[in-house]
Amino acid sequence: MTKYNVIEKILGDRSYPRQNSGQAFAPSNIALCKYWGKRNAELNLPINSSLSISLAHLGTHTTIRMAEGMDSISLNGMPLTLNSRFSHRLIEYLNLFRPERDFYFDVKTDNNFPTAAGLASSASGYAAAARALNNFFGWELEDNLLSILARLGSGSASRSIYHGFVEWEAGFHVDGMDSYAHVLPHRWPDLNLAVLTLSIGSKPVGSTEGMKRTVETSVLYKSWPEKAQRDLDQLRLAIEQKDFELLGETSESNALAMHATMIDTRPSVLYWLPETVAAFHQIWKMRSEGVKLYFTIDAGPNVKILFLRNDLDIVRAVFPQCEIITPFDFSVS
Ligand code: DP6
Repeated sequence: MTKYNVIEKILGDRSYPRQNSGQAFAPSNIALCKYWGKRNAELNLPINSSLSISLAHLGTHTTIRMAEGMDSISLNGMPLTLNSRFSHRLIEYLNLFRPERDFYFDVKTDNNFPTAAGLASSASGYAAAARALNNFFGWELEDNLLSILARLGSGSASRSIYHGFVEWEAGFHVDGMDSYAHVLPHRWPDLNLAVLTLSIGSKPVGSTEGMKRTVETSVLYKSWPEKAQRDLDQLRLAIEQKDFELLGETSESNALAMHATMIDTRPSVLYWLPETVAAFHQIWKMRSEGVKLYFTIDAGPNVKILFLRNDLDIVRAVFPQCEIITPFDFSVS
């Protein structure tokens, strides 16, 4: 089963664009129960279901037009060469949708979160690309199919199709037609995040390679699918009941368990810097003093703090360099 087979199922024959341009925005997202490990690397089919929170207006704007003679790609206003890593990955994705071999795309991608925030851009990037293609070609696809198209670009992009709390069901079919995200019907405006950027250097090992290595060599990984399922159930409950302690404890434990499997790989993948560990200790110390802060962390050194709005002043005072995010501060058009 290839990506082309999946596209065939969703779109049938490739069509020509119905518009001069297709534009879209998709929010970035942070997982509280992580996607870590693939059952199918070609289709980005996950071993476990995951749950995230989208970052409202922080994300990616993408505009797609037809180009003459060759593809043209720009990122944050700067034209990129076609053999850069970013272009290479995007062109492979665009290849899936060309109505004929010598059809070319002009793609403008703009991330509105500060590059220095150290947030992953592939999630919002591929979700915005899928939506922009949908508008450009006039496919009028439902969100669950857009979520599948986004997943083919990057797994976590399947969740960036929606705002709010989002669950991506792992599914079990070989073609992955049951592996897409949906939004949970709960809002929690008091729930805030703070991104603590400790390094903006490129990571030693990307997520795709990191999870491959983990699945292949980590002994601890064997316990991950069960742990992730348990955490997912707890998170759903916490969100339903607005139980912040349960949400925070479960998210933190899930992130640490994911990192335990990474550390257990051969060769080991350790994303933490001394500053990362210092931030953990600071958060734990504050919690022992009664301030309810929790953290989550992805495949990198930067820490995301979960807190409730009434602790905003404390968070700002203790982590003056952090970026505050209000995930439920969005309007759906
Ligand atoms: C740790 O979605 O970047 O952020 O599917 O290979 O593109 P690919 O991986 P990616 O992995 C994200 C991993 C994570 C956890 C998460 O977002 O759920």
